[in-house]
Parts: sequence; C-alpha cells; structure tokens
Amino acid sequence: MNPVMQNMYERTSIRKYEKTPLTRETIDELLKAAVQAPCGGNTQFWKFLVLESDEAKYRLNLAVRDGMRDLVLGENPYKSKVNGKRAAQNDDYCCFFHAPAWIVIANQKTHPNAMADCSLAVSNLMHAATSMGLGTCWVNQVPWTQDDPRVEEVLRDFGLPEDYVVCVSVAVGIPAHAPKKPERKAPDALYL
Ligand SMILES: Cc1cc2nc3c(=O)[nH]c(=O)nc-3n(C[C@H](O)[C@H](O)[C@H](O)COP(=O)(O)O)c2cc1C
Repeated sequence: MNPVMQNMYERTSIRKYEKTPLTRETIDELLKAAVQAPCGGNTQFWKFLVLESDEAKYRLNLAVRDGMRDLVLGENPYKSKVNGKRAAQNDDYCCFFHAPAWIVIANQKTHPNAMADCSLAVSNLMHAATSMGLGTCWVNQVPWTQDDPRVEEVLRDFGLPEDYVVCVSVAVGIPAHAPKKPERKAPDALYL
C-alpha cells in the first residue's frame, strides 16, 4: 500500500491527548494542508478559529455545555445528540477531550457548499495530522449549539463574523492512547 493510502487506514479518532502544546508552526502546517482541499467554485471562504489557550477552550466548552444541556432533541433524536446532552449534565463535561488545540472551521452562511468544503478541509487536516504523528477527533457539539445565544456570544467575541456558520470543530494533539480503529463494513456499492 502506498504511504497516502496507509495513512488513511491508520487515522482513527483520538479522545485522549497529551498536555504538550502544539507549536504554531505545526498548527500552520495543518491549516495549510486543510486549504489544499478542493472547494466548490474555488471560493475558499472557510475560516479557522484556532483555540490554543485554556481560557478560550474552556470558555467555549462551558457555553457548549450549557447549550447541550438545553438542546431540543425532538422526535427520534440522533443517538449522539442524546448522549451529548446526557454528558453535558456533568459539571466536568469536556467535549474537546482537553486537547491542546481545538479548531473551529466555519464558512459563509449563504455558500451552498459550506458544509462540503469544510468537511473536505477537515479531512485533509486529519490526514495531515496522522502523517505527523498527531491525533484528531471531530467535535460536533459546536455546530449543534452554535445558535444558542451563549455559544453565539463566545464565537462573536472570538471574531467569527455574523454571516458565518460553524460547520466543523476538531480536537488536535499528541495522542495519549492508541485506540483500535473501528472495523469498516465493506463498501456498499452497485456496479453498473
Ligand atoms: C460528522 C461527524 C461528527 C462526529 N462527531 C463526533 C463527536 O462529536 N464526538 C466524538 O467523540 N466523535 C465524533 N465523531 C467521530 C466518529 O465517532 C468516528 O469518526 C467514528 O466512530 C469512526 O471512528 P474513527 O474515526 O476512529 O475511524 C464524528 C465524526 C464525524 C464524521
């Protein structure tokens, strides 16, 4: 298998991190890899909020916790939302796994490819991180709670413009565990 393929097979979500901070150079490398992703119309509207300080990370975490506590689940709720809401009842709630870096990726609200573009960018970032011996995990609680006024206030204070929507957030750092990657089902494909 070539190294790029190997890297894809090796990437797995990391939910425990060493406290060691990432250097600014490392984070910049990851962001530069992220923006190599394709994007609709080559718009490159994506924006990255890089939370490195404990103050920023725990401020957002607290607002997200409150937002998750009040999340309206509706009928037949998505299991991860139910679990997230339950986890948010605990005062030691931490959706970003105390990772040294927590990156929020946003795009213009009116951009029809907002989510697709950010998903591809984070995929690049994740694979770049794996290739550098770093771990990552998608953290969906920010997109889920971004309309909660407490979360919105934090995002605005961090500099996210009002016409931007959070598509993804991702925890990044040196892995402090080596989980087994969940088995993949064979691709469900029709050949015509
Ligand atoms: C759209 C999306 C949302 C996710 N949200 C979360 C999340 O909020 N918290 C979390 O721990 N993992 C989250 N994950 C990670 C998935 O649980 C994980 O990718 C999946 O279980 C497969 O495991 P692997 O990444 O180790 O291959 C998310 C992944 C995706 C693609």
